[in-house]
Amino acid sequence: MGSHLVEALLARGERVVIVDDLSTGEVRNLAWALSSIQTTFVHADVAVPMPALRGLLEDAGISRVDAIYHLASPASPEAYGARPWETLSVNSVGTMSLVELALEHGAPMLFASTSEVYGDPLEHPQAESYFGNVDPIGRRSCYDEGKRFGEAAMAVATRSKGLDGRIVRLFNCYGPRMDAADGRLIPALVDAALRGQRMPIHGTGTQTRSMTYVDDAIELILLVAATPQARLQPINVGNDDERSVLEIARAVAAAAGVPFDVEFGPARENDPQRRKPDLTLAHALNWRPSTPLEAGLRQTVSWFKHERSAFA
Ligand SMILES: NC(=O)c1ccc[n+]([C@@H]2O[C@H](COP(=O)([O-])OP(=O)(O)OC[C@H]3O[C@@H](n4cnc5c(N)ncnc54)[C@H](O)[C@@H]3O)[C@@H](O)[C@H]2O)c1
Repeated sequence: MGSHLVEALLARGERVVIVDDLSTGEVRNLAWALSSIQTTFVHADVAVPMPALRGLLEDAGISRVDAIYHLASPASPEAYGARPWETLSVNSVGTMSLVELALEHGAPMLFASTSEVYGDPLEHPQAESYFGNVDPIGRRSCYDEGKRFGEAAMAVATRSKGLDGRIVRLFNCYGPRMDAADGRLIPALVDAALRGQRMPIHGTGTQTRSMTYVDDAIELILLVAATPQARLQPINVGNDDERSVLEIARAVAAAAGVPFDVEFGPARENDPQRRKPDLTLAHALNWRPSTPLEAGLRQTVSWFKHERSAFA
C-alpha cells in the first residue's frame, strides 16, 4: 500500500520521505519511487521514542514535515503471527511517536487501521459505529488490539492535543506488489494458480471477503486525508462486493486462465466469517470503488506473471 501511496503523492508533485524497516516490505517495490529526486528513503524502525525519529529525519536532512501517513505495520496473519511484539509496538509506540512528531511540526496525520478492529463481526455489514468483536488474547490480538490502540492514540491526540488526525479502516486490499509468501488470500491463490498447483483454502471457503483494489483504496485514503470533517471519524476503505472465498478463488482461476482446483486446509483461528464494509461514509465523500474484482485480478495476475519471469 505504501509504495502505491508514495507514487500517488509524487504524481501530485509532493516530496516524500519513506521510513521503512523493510521487515515485511520489499525495496524493489519502491524502485520507481526511488528513481525520483523528490524521494528520500530512511531505512529505520518507527517504533522508537519520538526524539529518535526526530534524529533520523535530521540525519536525512529533513527539517519540515507537512503530513504523516502511518502505514507501517506487519499486515498479514503470517507476518504479524511471526512478529506479534513488533506488531503491537509499531501500532502503539510507533503511533504515539509519530503523533508527537506530527504535533511538533503542526502536520496532519493519517493512521492506516483495519477492518480487523471489527474482529469476527456480529453486525453485517460493518459500519464505522460498530465496536467490534475481538478476542483480546487471541492469536490475532497483536494486530487487532494493536490497531485499536493506534486508533485510541489518534483519537486522544485529536481530541486533547490538537492533532489534525485521520483514521482509515482498510478492508482486504490487493493488487500488484504483494508478497506471495505472506499468506494473504489473493497472492496465495494467484501464486498457486500460476505454479499450476491447487489453490489453498483455509476452512470451508464459505467465509466471505470484500476485496478492494489498491488504486481504489489509495484514492479514498487521499480523499480522507483532504477532508477536515473526517477528524475523529474513522472511514471504512473497501469494496462492498462481498464474495465467498471459493468465489474469489474461482475468479482468480479465470484471471490466470487455469482450471478451478482448490485444496482445503484447516480454518485459521478467529478467522472472520463475514467481512463487508458499510460504505455510507465513503459514499458521502463522493467516492465509490471503480475496479471490479475481475479487472483487479487481471492486473494482479499480470504483475505476478511479470515478477515471475523477471526473477525466474
Ligand atoms: N493490505 C490490506 O489489505 C490492509 C488491510 C488492513 C490494513 N492494512 C494496513 O495498511 C498498512 C499497509 O499494509 P500493506 O498491506 O501494505 O502491508 P505491507 O507488509 O506490504 O507493508 C507494511 C510496511 O510497513 C513496514 N514496517 C513494518 N513495521 C515497521 C516498523 N516498525 N517501522 C518501519 N516500517 C515498518 C514493512 O517493512 C512494510 O514495508 C498496514 O498498517 C496494514 O496494517 C492493510
